[in-house]
Amino acid sequence: NPTPEPTPITLGFESIAGSKTDAIVVPPGYSAQVLIPWGTPLNDLAPEWSENLAFTPTIQENSVGMHHDGMYFFPLSEDTASNDFILALNNEYIDQGALWAPQNGPTAAPRPADEVRTEINAHGITLVRIQKQSDGSWSHVKNSSYNRRITSSTPMRLSGPVAGSDYVITPYSPSGTMTRGTNNNCAMGYTPWGTYLTCEENWPGYFIKDSGREKDDDRLGIETGHGRYYWETAAGDGSEVNDEFGRFNATPTGTGPSDDYRNEPRTFGYVVEIDPYTGTAVKRTHLGRFRHEGCWLGKLVEGEPVVFYSGHDSRNEYIYKFVSAKMWSASDESKVGSSYDRLDVGNSYLDEGTLYVAKFNDNGTGEWIALTPDAQTPGGSTLAAELGLGADDLAGIIIHTCDAADIMGGTPMDRPEWASVDPASGMVYMTLTNNSKRTEENTAATYTNGGSAIEEAGVGFSTAPTNGPNPRASNNGGQVVRWLEASPGATEFEWEVFVFGAAASDTDNLSGLTDMNQFASPDGLWYDQRDGEQGILWIQTDNGYSNVTDYTNDQMLAVVPSSVAGESNSPSIVDGRDQSNLKRFLVGPNGCEITGVFANADKTAIFVNVQHPGNWPSVKDATVETAGSVRPRASTVVIWKDDGGQVGV
Ligand code: FEO
Ligand code: CA
Ligand code: CA
Ligand code: CA
Repeated sequence: NPTPEPTPITLGFESIAGSKTDAIVVPPGYSAQVLIPWGTPLNDLAPEWSENLAFTPTIQENSVGMHHDGMYFFPLSEDTASNDFILALNNEYIDQGALWAPQNGPTAAPRPADEVRTEINAHGITLVRIQKQSDGSWSHVKNSSYNRRITSSTPMRLSGPVAGSDYVITPYSPSGTMTRGTNNNCAMGYTPWGTYLTCEENWPGYFIKDSGREKDDDRLGIETGHGRYYWETAAGDGSEVNDEFGRFNATPTGTGPSDDYRNEPRTFGYVVEIDPYTGTAVKRTHLGRFRHEGCWLGKLVEGEPVVFYSGHDSRNEYIYKFVSAKMWSASDESKVGSSYDRLDVGNSYLDEGTLYVAKFNDNGTGEWIALTPDAQTPGGSTLAAELGLGADDLAGIIIHTCDAADIMGGTPMDRPEWASVDPASGMVYMTLTNNSKRTEENTAATYTNGGSAIEEAGVGFSTAPTNGPNPRASNNGGQVVRWLEASPGATEFEWEVFVFGAAASDTDNLSGLTDMNQFASPDGLWYDQRDGEQGILWIQTDNGYSNVTDYTNDQMLAVVPSSVAGESNSPSIVDGRDQSNLKRFLVGPNGCEITGVFANADKTAIFVNVQHPGNWPSVKDATVETAGSVRPRASTVVIWKDDGGQVGV
């Protein structure tokens, strides 16, 4: 079924200059509004936020969480899809200074239980109903029955191969089918059946294991000594089964996994599917266990598998693809406005299938390598045998996803962050944000692929040589790679680097960027869908590279890719290195990163997140570089065109 060629579009705004103020800057003719900053009450159980508000577990559980990241919208009816929806929003981590500002906290370890409960409740996901007002501005609907928090203590089911296995037996769930909480929800994804996918990224930093460490603990970087916020030091309710905070200490102390929390970290590292209409969450283990940045739907084709791409955001880690066993049927598309069990549809597509790791060849081709127990390794064995697992131990393969990918020869990448797919062509774009741990080819003495000689440094390999899609030895700028496959379930692809980040003055400014579109550390990414038209690829940054930060704060750019759709059955990637069409659309306030992006259904408003701002949005003076300190609040920002037209064009 060849896809009709979409109508070409061009960007309808001029690139804006860089900015280093405590303001959101957008092109002339656009307006920007702060929406649902951290601490906004979702209902009457929480007071209005103020500079002096002292947070409690109850207040934070009934307010918007902290450090907004990936997000997406879920309409309540087809008719009102563009102006009334549930916003699902990740709250990745916290700024303890801002959270505890009125009390000059946080309190040193051992942490008070209610402080830890408050911090746990600031993490996770916020579900909140958002509406456009008659004056054109936007507001959340306080006390909506759709407003909910899912936090790092919310009970949820494990599903897929790991569920019910010995790997995830805990005192809380001796059957290994339940866990509590989701953590470090960075980027996301969404399914065609109307659910949200939230992804657990830097969760290993919240768990400690001082002895009895197993190879996945070291490979993923479970901490020793203390966790990121010392949650494990708080005294809980005294119940060993619940062990509210002790569960963050995975050091074996008992007689087995049902007697202590040695397995608690193995219930994290997953893609979590949420029904945004009910708030029910389930961890989909078949999509792999690692530091998941996000999870993005591939091109949907009737009668073909449903596929999702995800990246492991650590230096020299991998890109993965999950291919469903069940073939896509449009009858499973979300029925907006109807009430039914969307997670049941999710069970059928996300719990059975095959997980693959990407191998990029230097000649522009690539292959997906299956991570199955019986996969034949380069060493002539089976993957299960080489990992020391039982012959049919798929759960073990998932628990050790990264080790499996090492053995099978995946290509170590420059920190994979977001992906997005051109829904017409199926072209997949992915940001590779930067990498300080690359060496020139042949100089990485510690790196070999496909064997036990790999140095396991906890967070990715300590070093890796440059390779085709990761060609710069000291990569400050990052790049966006793209690839195309003949069909969703294909095991081969063709790839190229779409654009290299750099400062305009850099000697390795490989894409010829200028002041007006220089960027580094691409992170957020979204290819918007426009009916019958080409879409816009939005690129966001999370940059600390001084050659660019000297010029501008973090930003969002837009580009209409020069390669267009209709090629899905004959991969033919044209040269995408002419980036004169890459334009800067937005610059954020000091200290922040810009992350999270979607536009509403009719493309009249685009939503982005400002994470970890320094002194914003209660700005003292947005026109000067240092405006004085305020209690900062991560926030969503909605931007619209003053003439009411579609954003970007
Ligand atoms: Fe939470 Fe890789 O960004
Ligand atoms: Ca990110
Ligand atoms: Ca970040
Ligand atoms: Ca980042």
